[in-house]
Amino acid sequence: MNTDSTMYQGWPEVDESKKLLIEQVHAFAESKIKPMAAKLDATGEFPKEIIQQLSEMGIMGMMVPEQWGGSGMDTVSYAMALEEIAAACASTAVIVSVNNSLVCAPLNYFGSDLQKQKYLTPLAQGKKLGCFALSEPGHGSDPAGLECSATRVAGGFKIRGTKNWITNGKEADYCIVFATVDKTQGHKGICCFIVDTKAPGFQVSKLEDKLGITASSTAQLFFDDVYVPDECLLGKIGEGLKIALNTLDGGRIGIASQALGISRSAFESSKRFASEREQFGAPIAKLQAIQWFIADMATRLQGARLLTWAAARSKDLGLKFTKEAAMAKLAASEAAMWITTKAIQVHGGYGYTKEYSVERNFRDAKITEIYEGTSEIQRLVIAAQEFANVNKS
Ligand code: CAA
Repeated sequence: MNTDSTMYQGWPEVDESKKLLIEQVHAFAESKIKPMAAKLDATGEFPKEIIQQLSEMGIMGMMVPEQWGGSGMDTVSYAMALEEIAAACASTAVIVSVNNSLVCAPLNYFGSDLQKQKYLTPLAQGKKLGCFALSEPGHGSDPAGLECSATRVAGGFKIRGTKNWITNGKEADYCIVFATVDKTQGHKGICCFIVDTKAPGFQVSKLEDKLGITASSTAQLFFDDVYVPDECLLGKIGEGLKIALNTLDGGRIGIASQALGISRSAFESSKRFASEREQFGAPIAKLQAIQWFIADMATRLQGARLLTWAAARSKDLGLKFTKEAAMAKLAASEAAMWITTKAIQVHGGYGYTKEYSVERNFRDAKITEIYEGTSEIQRLVIAAQEFANVNKS
Protein backbone atom coordinates (compact mmCIF):
# COMPACT_ATOMS: atom_id res chain seq x y z
CA MET A 1 0.00 0.00 0.00
CA ASN A 2 1.11 3.51 -0.75
CA THR A 3 2.70 5.17 2.24
CA ASP A 4 0.27 8.06 2.48
CA SER A 5 -3.26 7.44 1.24
CA THR A 6 -4.39 10.87 2.52
CA MET A 7 -2.77 12.32 -0.58
CA TYR A 8 -5.86 11.15 -2.51
CA GLN A 9 -8.24 13.09 -0.25
CA GLY A 10 -10.57 15.32 -2.23
CA TRP A 11 -9.81 13.51 -5.46
CA PRO A 12 -12.88 11.44 -6.39
CA GLU A 13 -11.19 10.70 -9.74
CA VAL A 14 -8.78 8.47 -7.87
CA ASP A 15 -11.07 5.47 -8.05
CA GLU A 16 -10.42 1.86 -7.09
CA SER A 17 -8.82 1.01 -10.46
CA LYS A 18 -6.30 3.84 -10.09
CA LYS A 19 -5.54 2.84 -6.50
CA LEU A 20 -4.97 -0.73 -7.64
CA LEU A 21 -2.63 0.39 -10.41
CA ILE A 22 -0.66 2.58 -8.01
CA GLU A 23 -0.40 -0.24 -5.48
CA GLN A 24 0.98 -2.54 -8.19
CA VAL A 25 3.51 0.01 -9.43
CA HIS A 26 4.42 0.92 -5.85
CA ALA A 27 5.00 -2.74 -4.94
CA PHE A 28 7.16 -3.28 -8.03
CA ALA A 29 9.12 -0.07 -7.44
CA GLU A 30 9.77 -0.94 -3.78
CA SER A 31 10.77 -4.55 -4.39
CA LYS A 32 12.56 -4.43 -7.76
CA ILE A 33 13.66 -0.88 -8.55
CA LYS A 34 14.57 0.67 -5.19
CA PRO A 35 17.09 -2.03 -4.19
CA MET A 36 18.94 -1.42 -7.49
CA ALA A 37 18.88 2.39 -7.46
CA ALA A 38 22.16 3.10 -5.64
CA LYS A 39 24.04 0.61 -7.83
CA LEU A 40 22.53 2.02 -11.03
CA ASP A 41 23.51 5.50 -9.87
CA ALA A 42 27.08 4.41 -9.14
CA THR A 43 27.62 2.46 -12.37
CA GLY A 44 25.49 4.51 -14.75
CA GLU A 45 24.26 1.22 -16.14
CA PHE A 46 21.00 1.34 -18.16
CA PRO A 47 18.27 -0.53 -16.19
CA LYS A 48 17.47 -2.92 -19.04
CA GLU A 49 15.74 -5.62 -17.02
CA ILE A 50 13.64 -3.13 -15.07
CA ILE A 51 12.49 -1.48 -18.31
CA GLN A 52 11.67 -4.91 -19.69
CA GLN A 53 9.51 -5.68 -16.64
CA LEU A 54 7.84 -2.26 -16.77
CA SER A 55 7.05 -2.96 -20.44
CA GLU A 56 5.33 -6.18 -19.43
CA MET A 57 3.28 -4.18 -16.91
CA GLY A 58 2.14 -1.82 -19.70
CA ILE A 59 4.06 1.18 -18.35
CA MET A 60 6.01 2.16 -21.49
CA GLY A 61 2.92 3.28 -23.43
CA MET A 62 0.47 4.06 -20.67
CA MET A 63 -1.69 6.62 -22.48
CA VAL A 64 -1.60 4.96 -25.91
CA PRO A 65 -4.88 3.26 -26.94
CA GLU A 66 -4.85 -0.53 -26.65
CA GLN A 67 -5.35 -0.72 -30.43
CA TRP A 68 -1.80 0.59 -30.81
CA GLY A 69 -0.15 -1.53 -28.17
CA GLY A 70 -0.66 0.76 -25.18
CA SER A 71 -2.58 0.54 -21.90
CA GLY A 72 -5.24 3.16 -22.76
CA MET A 73 -4.95 4.87 -19.38
CA ASP A 74 -5.40 8.53 -18.54
CA THR A 75 -2.76 11.12 -17.68
CA VAL A 76 -3.64 11.19 -13.97
CA SER A 77 -2.80 7.47 -13.75
CA TYR A 78 0.41 8.10 -15.69
CA ALA A 79 1.44 10.91 -13.30
CA MET A 80 0.77 8.72 -10.28
CA ALA A 81 2.68 5.75 -11.70
CA LEU A 82 5.69 7.92 -12.60
CA GLU A 83 5.80 9.35 -9.07
CA GLU A 84 6.02 5.80 -7.72
CA ILE A 85 8.84 4.89 -10.10
CA ALA A 86 10.75 8.12 -9.44
CA ALA A 87 10.46 7.64 -5.68
CA ALA A 88 12.53 4.49 -6.23
CA CYS A 89 14.85 5.62 -9.05
CA ALA A 90 14.77 8.95 -10.88
CA SER A 91 16.86 7.60 -13.78
CA THR A 92 14.33 4.86 -14.50
CA ALA A 93 11.53 7.43 -14.27
CA VAL A 94 12.98 9.70 -16.95
CA ILE A 95 13.56 6.77 -19.33
CA VAL A 96 9.88 5.87 -18.90
CA SER A 97 8.74 9.49 -19.12
CA VAL A 98 10.56 10.23 -22.38
CA ASN A 99 9.23 7.09 -24.07
CA ASN A 100 5.65 7.85 -22.97
CA SER A 101 5.41 11.63 -23.16
CA LEU A 102 7.90 12.67 -25.79
CA VAL A 103 7.81 9.73 -28.19
CA CYS A 104 4.55 7.75 -27.93
CA ALA A 105 2.42 10.88 -27.41
CA PRO A 106 3.37 12.76 -30.62
CA LEU A 107 3.11 9.52 -32.63
CA ASN A 108 -0.34 8.95 -31.16
CA TYR A 109 -1.57 12.52 -31.78
CA PHE A 110 0.07 13.32 -35.09
CA GLY A 111 0.91 9.94 -36.64
CA SER A 112 -0.84 8.25 -39.57
CA ASP A 113 -2.25 4.75 -39.07
CA LEU A 114 0.78 3.40 -40.94
CA GLN A 115 3.16 5.22 -38.58
CA LYS A 116 1.18 4.05 -35.55
CA GLN A 117 1.29 0.47 -36.74
CA LYS A 118 4.98 0.49 -37.59
CA TYR A 119 6.49 2.72 -34.88
CA LEU A 120 4.01 3.51 -32.11
CA THR A 121 2.91 -0.07 -31.45
CA PRO A 122 6.35 -1.53 -30.63
CA LEU A 123 7.28 1.63 -28.68
CA ALA A 124 4.10 1.46 -26.58
CA GLN A 125 4.65 -2.25 -25.95
CA GLY A 126 8.18 -1.51 -24.80
CA LYS A 127 9.67 -3.73 -27.51
CA LYS A 128 11.43 -0.61 -28.82
CA LEU A 129 12.67 2.49 -27.03
CA GLY A 130 12.41 6.08 -28.23
CA CYS A 131 14.14 9.42 -27.80
CA PHE A 132 13.19 13.03 -28.63
CA ALA A 133 15.81 15.14 -30.42
CA LEU A 134 14.92 18.84 -30.33
CA SER A 135 17.74 20.64 -28.49
CA GLU A 136 20.99 21.53 -30.23
CA PRO A 137 24.34 22.85 -28.97
CA GLY A 138 23.22 26.44 -29.76
CA HIS A 139 19.46 25.98 -29.25
CA GLY A 140 18.21 24.75 -25.88
CA SER A 141 15.57 27.18 -24.62
CA ASP A 142 15.04 28.61 -28.12
CA PRO A 143 14.23 25.67 -30.40
CA ALA A 144 12.56 27.95 -33.00
CA GLY A 145 16.05 28.85 -34.24
CA LEU A 146 17.29 25.27 -34.63
CA GLU A 147 19.85 24.58 -37.35
CA CYS A 148 19.61 20.87 -38.07
CA SER A 149 18.62 20.72 -41.76
CA ALA A 150 16.30 18.46 -43.75
CA THR A 151 17.09 18.62 -47.44
CA ARG A 152 14.62 17.31 -50.01
CA VAL A 153 15.90 14.32 -51.99
CA ALA A 154 14.09 11.73 -54.15
CA GLY A 155 11.50 9.94 -52.00
CA GLY A 156 12.38 11.69 -48.77
CA PHE A 157 14.80 13.94 -46.90
CA LYS A 158 18.42 13.97 -45.78
CA ILE A 159 18.91 15.13 -42.21
CA ARG A 160 22.14 16.81 -41.17
CA GLY A 161 23.08 18.36 -37.85
CA THR A 162 23.81 17.86 -34.17
CA LYS A 163 21.37 17.30 -31.32
CA ASN A 164 22.31 17.74 -27.66
CA TRP A 165 21.25 16.35 -24.26
CA ILE A 166 19.08 13.60 -25.69
CA THR A 167 17.70 11.31 -22.99
CA ASN A 168 17.69 7.63 -24.13
CA GLY A 169 19.89 8.72 -27.07
CA LYS A 170 22.29 5.81 -26.63
CA GLU A 171 19.69 3.03 -26.38
CA ALA A 172 16.87 4.37 -28.57
CA ASP A 173 15.61 2.40 -31.57
CA TYR A 174 13.59 5.33 -32.91
CA CYS A 175 14.23 9.03 -32.60
CA ILE A 176 11.73 11.88 -33.03
CA VAL A 177 13.88 14.51 -34.76
CA PHE A 178 13.19 18.16 -35.52
CA ALA A 179 14.92 19.74 -38.53
CA THR A 180 14.31 22.69 -40.82
CA VAL A 181 13.62 22.49 -44.54
CA ASP A 182 14.15 26.24 -44.88
CA LYS A 183 15.85 28.30 -42.18
CA THR A 184 14.68 31.57 -43.76
CA GLN A 185 11.08 30.65 -42.85
CA GLY A 186 11.87 30.66 -39.11
CA HIS A 187 9.75 28.22 -37.12
CA LYS A 188 7.50 27.64 -40.14
CA GLY A 189 10.32 25.68 -41.79
CA ILE A 190 10.66 23.18 -38.96
CA CYS A 191 9.48 19.60 -39.56
CA CYS A 192 9.26 16.52 -37.39
CA PHE A 193 10.63 13.15 -38.51
CA ILE A 194 10.74 9.60 -37.18
CA VAL A 195 14.28 8.32 -37.61
CA ASP A 196 15.38 4.71 -37.25
CA THR A 197 18.63 4.88 -35.30
CA LYS A 198 19.99 2.02 -37.40
CA ALA A 199 19.87 4.26 -40.49
CA PRO A 200 23.29 4.95 -42.04
CA GLY A 201 24.72 8.25 -40.81
CA PHE A 202 23.08 8.17 -37.36
CA GLN A 203 25.80 8.54 -34.74
CA VAL A 204 25.93 8.82 -30.97
CA SER A 205 28.78 11.34 -30.94
CA LYS A 206 29.13 11.92 -27.17
CA LEU A 207 27.72 10.70 -23.86
CA GLU A 208 27.41 13.26 -21.08
CA ASP A 209 28.98 12.65 -17.66
CA LYS A 210 26.33 14.05 -15.35
CA LEU A 211 25.62 15.20 -11.79
CA GLY A 212 22.52 13.02 -11.44
CA ILE A 213 20.12 10.65 -13.22
CA THR A 214 23.28 8.81 -14.18
CA ALA A 215 21.59 5.55 -15.24
CA SER A 216 19.71 7.29 -18.05
CA SER A 217 21.87 8.15 -21.02
CA THR A 218 22.17 11.77 -22.15
CA ALA A 219 23.66 11.79 -25.63
CA GLN A 220 24.84 14.10 -28.31
CA LEU A 221 23.63 12.78 -31.65
CA PHE A 222 25.09 13.58 -35.05
CA PHE A 223 22.98 13.11 -38.17
CA ASP A 224 25.38 12.74 -41.05
CA ASP A 225 23.01 13.06 -44.03
CA VAL A 226 20.64 10.47 -42.60
CA TYR A 227 18.09 9.49 -45.25
CA VAL A 228 14.48 9.56 -44.05
CA PRO A 229 11.71 8.40 -46.40
CA ASP A 230 8.59 10.56 -46.89
CA GLU A 231 6.53 8.12 -44.80
CA CYS A 232 8.59 9.18 -41.76
CA LEU A 233 7.50 12.82 -41.83
CA LEU A 234 5.33 13.22 -38.70
CA GLY A 235 2.57 15.80 -39.24
CA LYS A 236 2.91 18.31 -42.05
CA ILE A 237 5.83 20.32 -43.41
CA GLY A 238 6.34 23.36 -41.16
CA GLU A 239 4.36 21.92 -38.22
CA GLY A 240 7.45 20.72 -36.39
CA LEU A 241 7.74 23.44 -33.72
CA LYS A 242 4.06 23.17 -32.84
CA ILE A 243 4.40 19.40 -32.51
CA ALA A 244 7.47 19.90 -30.29
CA LEU A 245 5.82 22.48 -28.01
CA ASN A 246 2.56 20.55 -27.82
CA THR A 247 4.52 17.42 -26.93
CA LEU A 248 6.52 19.28 -24.30
CA ASP A 249 3.29 20.45 -22.61
CA GLY A 250 2.57 16.78 -21.90
CA GLY A 251 6.22 16.03 -21.13
CA ARG A 252 6.23 18.64 -18.37
CA ILE A 253 3.55 16.69 -16.49
CA GLY A 254 5.90 13.69 -16.65
CA ILE A 255 8.88 15.65 -15.32
CA ALA A 256 6.71 17.20 -12.59
CA SER A 257 5.74 13.65 -11.56
CA GLN A 258 9.38 12.59 -11.58
CA ALA A 259 10.18 15.57 -9.31
CA LEU A 260 7.35 14.52 -6.95
CA GLY A 261 8.84 11.05 -6.65
CA ILE A 262 12.30 12.44 -5.88
CA SER A 263 10.78 14.77 -3.26
CA ARG A 264 8.78 11.97 -1.68
CA SER A 265 11.81 9.76 -1.35
CA ALA A 266 13.74 12.54 0.41
CA PHE A 267 10.77 13.47 2.58
CA GLU A 268 10.12 9.91 3.75
CA SER A 269 13.79 9.33 4.46
CA SER A 270 13.84 12.55 6.52
CA LYS A 271 10.84 11.48 8.62
CA ARG A 272 12.39 8.05 9.24
CA PHE A 273 15.75 9.48 10.13
CA ALA A 274 14.29 12.16 12.42
CA SER A 275 12.32 9.52 14.33
CA GLU A 276 15.37 7.31 14.85
CA ARG A 277 18.24 9.75 15.29
CA GLU A 278 18.73 10.86 18.87
CA GLN A 279 20.53 14.02 19.96
CA PHE A 280 20.33 15.76 23.33
CA GLY A 281 18.68 12.61 24.73
CA ALA A 282 15.66 12.43 22.38
CA PRO A 283 14.77 11.78 18.72
CA ILE A 284 15.48 14.90 16.67
CA ALA A 285 11.81 14.70 15.52
CA LYS A 286 11.04 16.28 18.90
CA LEU A 287 12.95 19.42 17.92
CA GLN A 288 10.83 22.21 16.49
CA ALA A 289 13.51 23.07 13.91
CA ILE A 290 13.13 19.58 12.42
CA GLN A 291 9.33 19.62 12.71
CA TRP A 292 9.21 22.83 10.68
CA PHE A 293 11.36 21.30 7.95
CA ILE A 294 9.04 18.27 7.82
CA ALA A 295 5.89 20.42 7.82
CA ASP A 296 7.21 22.59 4.99
CA MET A 297 8.33 19.52 3.01
CA ALA A 298 4.88 17.92 3.35
CA THR A 299 3.14 21.14 2.29
CA ARG A 300 5.36 21.80 -0.73
CA LEU A 301 5.14 18.18 -1.84
CA GLN A 302 1.35 18.01 -1.66
CA GLY A 303 0.95 21.47 -3.24
CA ALA A 304 3.09 20.45 -6.21
CA ARG A 305 1.30 17.11 -6.45
CA LEU A 306 -2.12 18.78 -6.65
CA LEU A 307 -0.89 21.13 -9.39
CA THR A 308 0.49 18.14 -11.28
CA TRP A 309 -2.72 16.15 -11.01
CA ALA A 310 -4.75 19.24 -11.98
CA ALA A 311 -2.64 19.64 -15.13
CA ALA A 312 -3.03 15.94 -15.90
CA ARG A 313 -6.78 16.14 -15.38
CA SER A 314 -7.06 19.20 -17.65
CA LYS A 315 -5.24 17.23 -20.34
CA ASP A 316 -7.56 14.25 -19.83
CA LEU A 317 -10.60 16.54 -20.14
CA GLY A 318 -9.28 17.82 -23.47
CA LEU A 319 -8.78 21.35 -22.09
CA LYS A 320 -5.82 23.57 -22.97
CA PHE A 321 -3.24 22.71 -20.33
CA THR A 322 -0.08 24.59 -21.42
CA LYS A 323 -0.10 26.90 -18.39
CA GLU A 324 -1.14 24.17 -15.95
CA ALA A 325 1.68 21.89 -17.12
CA ALA A 326 4.23 24.71 -16.83
CA MET A 327 2.97 25.54 -13.30
CA ALA A 328 3.16 21.88 -12.30
CA LYS A 329 6.70 21.48 -13.56
CA LEU A 330 7.85 24.77 -12.04
CA ALA A 331 6.32 24.02 -8.64
CA ALA A 332 7.32 20.35 -8.51
CA SER A 333 10.92 20.86 -9.64
CA GLU A 334 11.54 23.80 -7.31
CA ALA A 335 9.88 21.85 -4.47
CA ALA A 336 12.19 18.91 -5.25
CA MET A 337 15.29 21.10 -5.05
CA TRP A 338 14.12 22.67 -1.78
CA ILE A 339 12.97 19.41 -0.19
CA THR A 340 16.13 17.49 -1.09
CA THR A 341 18.32 20.33 0.20
CA LYS A 342 16.47 20.35 3.53
CA ALA A 343 16.47 16.54 3.62
CA ILE A 344 20.28 16.58 3.66
CA GLN A 345 20.13 19.16 6.45
CA VAL A 346 17.85 16.90 8.52
CA HIS A 347 20.27 13.99 8.00
CA GLY A 348 23.26 16.16 8.93
CA GLY A 349 26.65 14.59 8.18
CA TYR A 350 24.98 11.30 7.21
CA GLY A 351 22.96 13.04 4.51
CA TYR A 352 26.13 14.23 2.80
CA THR A 353 27.29 10.66 2.26
CA LYS A 354 26.16 7.97 -0.14
CA GLU A 355 25.00 5.87 2.81
CA TYR A 356 21.63 7.67 2.57
CA SER A 357 19.57 8.08 -0.60
CA VAL A 358 18.98 11.79 0.07
CA GLU A 359 22.42 12.48 -1.41
CA ARG A 360 21.26 10.91 -4.71
CA ASN A 361 17.85 12.58 -4.44
CA PHE A 362 19.59 15.98 -4.17
CA ARG A 363 21.69 15.36 -7.29
CA ASP A 364 18.73 13.93 -9.23
CA ALA A 365 16.44 16.83 -8.29
CA LYS A 366 18.52 19.51 -10.05
CA ILE A 367 17.82 18.33 -13.60
CA THR A 368 14.06 18.65 -13.11
CA GLU A 369 14.59 22.45 -13.00
CA ILE A 370 16.38 22.27 -16.34
CA TYR A 371 15.15 19.70 -18.86
CA GLU A 372 11.93 19.94 -20.84
CA GLY A 373 12.16 23.70 -20.27
CA THR A 374 14.06 25.45 -17.47
CA SER A 375 12.18 27.05 -14.57
CA GLU A 376 12.72 30.39 -16.29
CA ILE A 377 11.06 29.07 -19.47
CA GLN A 378 8.12 27.75 -17.41
CA ARG A 379 7.71 31.26 -15.95
CA LEU A 380 7.74 32.69 -19.49
CA VAL A 381 5.06 30.22 -20.57
CA ILE A 382 2.89 31.01 -17.52
CA ALA A 383 3.33 34.78 -17.93
CA ALA A 384 2.52 34.57 -21.66
CA GLN A 385 -0.81 32.93 -20.80
CA GLU A 386 -1.54 35.40 -17.99
CA PHE A 387 -0.91 38.31 -20.35
CA ALA A 388 -2.59 36.65 -23.36
CA ASN A 389 -5.20 39.41 -23.65
CA VAL A 390 -2.66 42.20 -23.22
CA ASN A 391 -0.43 40.63 -25.88
CA LYS A 392 -3.36 40.43 -28.32
CA SER A 393 -4.24 44.12 -28.01
N1 CAA B 1 1.65 24.02 -28.26
C1 CAA B 1 1.53 24.14 -29.61
N2 CAA B 1 1.97 25.21 -30.28
C2 CAA B 1 2.55 26.20 -29.57
C3 CAA B 1 2.69 26.14 -28.17
C4 CAA B 1 2.22 25.01 -27.51
N3 CAA B 1 2.31 24.90 -26.18
N4 CAA B 1 3.30 27.27 -27.75
C5 CAA B 1 3.51 28.02 -28.85
N5 CAA B 1 3.05 27.38 -29.96
C6 CAA B 1 3.10 27.84 -31.34
C7 CAA B 1 2.63 29.28 -31.46
O1 CAA B 1 1.24 29.34 -31.70
C8 CAA B 1 3.42 29.80 -32.65
O2 CAA B 1 2.83 29.44 -33.86
P1 CAA B 1 2.23 30.57 -34.90
O3 CAA B 1 3.40 31.48 -35.21
O4 CAA B 1 1.76 29.80 -36.05
O5 CAA B 1 1.16 31.27 -34.12
C9 CAA B 1 4.73 29.02 -32.55
O6 CAA B 1 4.46 27.84 -31.76
C10 CAA B 1 5.82 29.82 -31.91
O7 CAA B 1 5.29 30.33 -30.70
P2 CAA B 1 6.08 31.43 -29.85
O8 CAA B 1 6.45 32.56 -30.76
O9 CAA B 1 5.30 31.72 -28.63
O10 CAA B 1 7.37 30.59 -29.48
P3 CAA B 1 8.81 31.06 -29.08
O11 CAA B 1 9.76 30.74 -30.16
O12 CAA B 1 8.77 32.48 -28.57
O13 CAA B 1 9.13 30.06 -27.87
C11 CAA B 1 9.08 29.12 -25.69
C12 CAA B 1 8.34 29.93 -26.78
C13 CAA B 1 8.11 29.02 -24.53
C14 CAA B 1 10.33 29.84 -25.22
C15 CAA B 1 9.42 27.73 -26.25
O14 CAA B 1 10.37 27.81 -27.25
C16 CAA B 1 9.90 26.75 -25.20
O15 CAA B 1 9.08 26.10 -24.55
N6 CAA B 1 11.25 26.59 -25.04
C17 CAA B 1 11.83 25.54 -24.21
C18 CAA B 1 12.12 24.34 -25.04
C19 CAA B 1 12.29 23.10 -24.21
O16 CAA B 1 11.48 22.81 -23.32
N7 CAA B 1 13.32 22.32 -24.52
C20 CAA B 1 13.55 21.07 -23.88
C21 CAA B 1 13.93 20.05 -24.91
S1 CAA B 1 13.50 18.38 -24.63
C22 CAA B 1 14.52 17.80 -23.42
O17 CAA B 1 14.64 18.40 -22.40
C23 CAA B 1 15.32 16.59 -23.71
C24 CAA B 1 15.02 15.33 -23.05
O18 CAA B 1 15.38 14.32 -23.62
C25 CAA B 1 14.32 15.21 -21.73
